[in-house]
Amino acid sequence: MATSKTITPATGRRVTLASLRKAKGEGRRFAALTAYDASFAALEDAAGIEVILVGDSLGMVVQGHRSTIPVTMEHVVYHTALVARGAGSALVMGDMPFMSFATVDEARHNAARLMQEGGAEIVKLEGTGAQAETVEALSAQGIPVCAHLGLRPQAVHKVGAYKIQGREPEAAQALMEDAAALEQAGADMLLLECVPATLAKKITEQAQVPVIGIGAGVHCDGQILVLYDMLGITPGRRPSFSKDFLIDSGGIFAALQNYAEAVRSGTFPGPEHAFE
Ligand code: KIV
Repeated sequence: MATSKTITPATGRRVTLASLRKAKGEGRRFAALTAYDASFAALEDAAGIEVILVGDSLGMVVQGHRSTIPVTMEHVVYHTALVARGAGSALVMGDMPFMSFATVDEARHNAARLMQEGGAEIVKLEGTGAQAETVEALSAQGIPVCAHLGLRPQAVHKVGAYKIQGREPEAAQALMEDAAALEQAGADMLLLECVPATLAKKITEQAQVPVIGIGAGVHCDGQILVLYDMLGITPGRRPSFSKDFLIDSGGIFAALQNYAEAVRSGTFPGPEHAFE
């Protein structure tokens, strides 16, 4: 059972897109983390995590699937509503699952569900420049969007494996162009997964909007991890870009605080958690 101390929001001030943009402008890093239920959302919020993502990673770490592809809108809406109830000041981001944004109309309908039924304050979708029209349409309706580039787990069967993206010069150039196109289309945030640290640094410098990294090196404006990976409870091998913060922290709340602090101070991710 959480103590009343642990569920007191750390700042009391709501995290907004404007406050994250300000943090980027001032060179202050911020911490993001996934959550799937109200209790963890409250703990993360109290530990000072600024952005809580209800990721479709729930398909793997909660539901036990081998990929995120079986996750449906119903699942994400349900878990987003749980998290939104627990989160205090953190920004709640809901993930658009596989094929939920295949057409612009579906994207509009499903993003609206995530916000109205789930209580998300921003939606995330995996994309390339090909999703620019969708991002523009959501943006035009006042729906904040985080565009997820690089390794896109929903495309695992097309790509062939969960592997680092943007290593070759042409692929790196394409990623930079995709990031610029999605920002131009109205994306309010970018998320880079498994890209070389030097490329992530260039994209972060090029972008006016905050850039969150996972397996993308220390130069992004913010970092995100899957909650169960950073607590060391995901079955199987932990991704090399992640770190078990529970092992040296003595408890879950301390692990969350130590993660937030390590991100802010730039001590996480270290070179051993990044790719070149
Ligand atoms: O679904 C998820 O948890 C994610 C993170 C890996 C960023 O997209």
